[in-house]
Amino acid sequence: MKKVFLFMIVSIFMMPTSSNANEGMWFLMFIDRLNHRDMQKMGLQLTAEEIYSINNNSLKDAIVQFNGGCTASIISDKGLVLTNHHCGYDAIAALSTEEKNHLKNGFWAKSFEEELKPESLYVRFFVRMDDVSERILAKVNDSMTEKERQAAINKEIAVIEKENNEDGKYTVSVRSFFQGNEFYYFVYEDYEDVRLVGTPTESIGKFGGDTDNWEWPRHTGDFSLFRVYTDKDGNAAKYAEDNIPMNPKRHLSVNLGGVKENDFAMILGYPGRTNRWMPAEGIAQNVNYAYPAWVESSKTSMDAMKKHMNQSEDVNLKYASGYAGIANYWKNRQGMIDALTKHGTADKKRKLETKFNKWANKKRNKETYGNVIADINKYYALTNEKSRHDNYLIGILRGSSFAVAPWRLGRNLSYYTEQNKAKREELRPRLQQLIDDTFKNAYMPLEKDVLAAQLKLYVEKSGYELPTLVKEINEEIDGDFDSYIDAMFDLSIFTSKERLEAYLMYPNKVLLENDPLFLLSSDLITKYREEPEAIASAKEAYDKAYRKLVQGLRESKLSTVKYPDANSTLRLTYGKVVALPKDSRNDAKINNYTTMKGMVAKYKPNDDEFDLPKEVLDLYEKKDFGQYADKNGYMPVNFLTNNDITGGNSGSPVLNGNGELIGLAFDGNIEAMAGDVIFDDKLQRTINVDIRYVMWLVDKLSGADNIIKELTIKK
Ligand code: ARG
Repeated sequence: MKKVFLFMIVSIFMMPTSSNANEGMWFLMFIDRLNHRDMQKMGLQLTAEEIYSINNNSLKDAIVQFNGGCTASIISDKGLVLTNHHCGYDAIAALSTEEKNHLKNGFWAKSFEEELKPESLYVRFFVRMDDVSERILAKVNDSMTEKERQAAINKEIAVIEKENNEDGKYTVSVRSFFQGNEFYYFVYEDYEDVRLVGTPTESIGKFGGDTDNWEWPRHTGDFSLFRVYTDKDGNAAKYAEDNIPMNPKRHLSVNLGGVKENDFAMILGYPGRTNRWMPAEGIAQNVNYAYPAWVESSKTSMDAMKKHMNQSEDVNLKYASGYAGIANYWKNRQGMIDALTKHGTADKKRKLETKFNKWANKKRNKETYGNVIADINKYYALTNEKSRHDNYLIGILRGSSFAVAPWRLGRNLSYYTEQNKAKREELRPRLQQLIDDTFKNAYMPLEKDVLAAQLKLYVEKSGYELPTLVKEINEEIDGDFDSYIDAMFDLSIFTSKERLEAYLMYPNKVLLENDPLFLLSSDLITKYREEPEAIASAKEAYDKAYRKLVQGLRESKLSTVKYPDANSTLRLTYGKVVALPKDSRNDAKINNYTTMKGMVAKYKPNDDEFDLPKEVLDLYEKKDFGQYADKNGYMPVNFLTNNDITGGNSGSPVLNGNGELIGLAFDGNIEAMAGDVIFDDKLQRTINVDIRYVMWLVDKLSGADNIIKELTIKK
């Protein structure tokens, strides 16, 4: 009897830490305790120390956050950085011109000298992290308002940052986890001299375009290469011509051995945002109000943009990156609506919340948790309509730079106008910079069309009290925003660099305050910031309740989620190479990889999305795969794992049990778009570029043997 009991305790401790072994975005500092044993069983050969150590160099030293929103890894002792093509996209487009079109034609630097410095791009190394929950929570109590609570937390955060930033050498960030129930600080070191080393053509790097985005089977060569530079002493430094390639603490080896079903695979990276604790009515709000508006508004911008982008390569280069960003979430949000609806996710959560509510109303829990569900539901009921409105409104601000710029510039100009001559002189360079930035990539006919189309949509669909001025204008012009915006772009000072520069010479308050676009823009921003009193007070109760919901779900053990939501901090996820059910669209024997044969079968000459360079087709014809072919003869392109990732993980290295690079994570599958709120073991997959395809593109297709020589290659 005793023995059995003991056995039960042991087996509970040895059970995987969550119901799905592969679910979870884990903190590196806890893997020893929570995950390591499980990982070893699945094929990991490394110790926890070899993955994360504060004192010794470890795997974590080869992982960087790439330009704030993506992940990348260091793959040579000369600071070579591997990330996705879609992560480098903005920098590649900015470095491209019609004459030197690197986005379209690809680019390979044959030497360090030929590497290209984009205007701004940085990578962030992770130094260490620690738990500061006790310290921060000691500063707050339950009688505080949310505002007071936040102020107290911020004050302590400032102290922690100061203690750890070593006089500005490091960036320190303190983040809240489990909805404000825990806090950790993160120490980072940023490197700002990062240069483009190589990229395949857009036809390869974005093969399949928006049609294939978020889809499997996939055939995308989604990678690009950059390099980190330091000053002569190896320190992080601003760009200087004589900076030298970084000598990193650690770089990843490349493993050409290939992957097969059930192989261990782990991913380290910076997942951006998940909402696995989101309440049922929050999900319902997104599905029924927020996301449909988001999708429609995105499509409206995309259509207006595309028309102009198709007419000129110069316009295309200016807007390609912004367009890709909108298109990416346009498809993602529709995928979420479909998946959340199909899987009845809100209902599943409602059931959980019913159980929770029972627990919460037990005598001993009632005081703390009794109102949690009611407060949460009240807030969502009050904000459903507003969330639809807000998404249409945000669609204007996201889609059109001239919805925001007049307000932002105008406020600066207003301040400028009030100053004396000397002060104005001092302010002028910064204002000139703002003006230059506003116009650098702006193409007025496109800007007009997007703004007019967005305003029309907003007025028709937002179903809410319109902003004062928009309402007035709409009545006056009878909804004809095309003519109205056209005329206002002629009148306003904010649509012409020359007029703005003239304003700097002869500032005039009356002129500014009556500028039609300044007024319109201010009207929109005011609306965006407005929070009706009833909603503000419901929000106060909601914030408290949501924090308690998460606390209570953990305390009651009603939730199986054992890890905090993603919030752009470094995480590890581990799993395996796992196929999806057979799919007639995939020529591969097992539906966990794709081949070059399948890629060439999708080829459509001169197509926007499915074109390929002639050289790829020629090499494919000759079956010239070099050392990169799979031992079964095919040339691999992409493969699937069941890792738990989300946006922000893009560019993350996929590692085998020895911590060697086998692939590059770049996408998720549309069937599993509910994943950000609920992980589904059966459906959710990570889509990766096979490292052998990356190497084939670098070596065989592009002849960049200077790069190949830098790498540590294992077979
Ligand atoms: N879905 C990918 C992600 O969110 C981005 C892919 C970009 N490609 C595209 N066709 N828009 O990481």
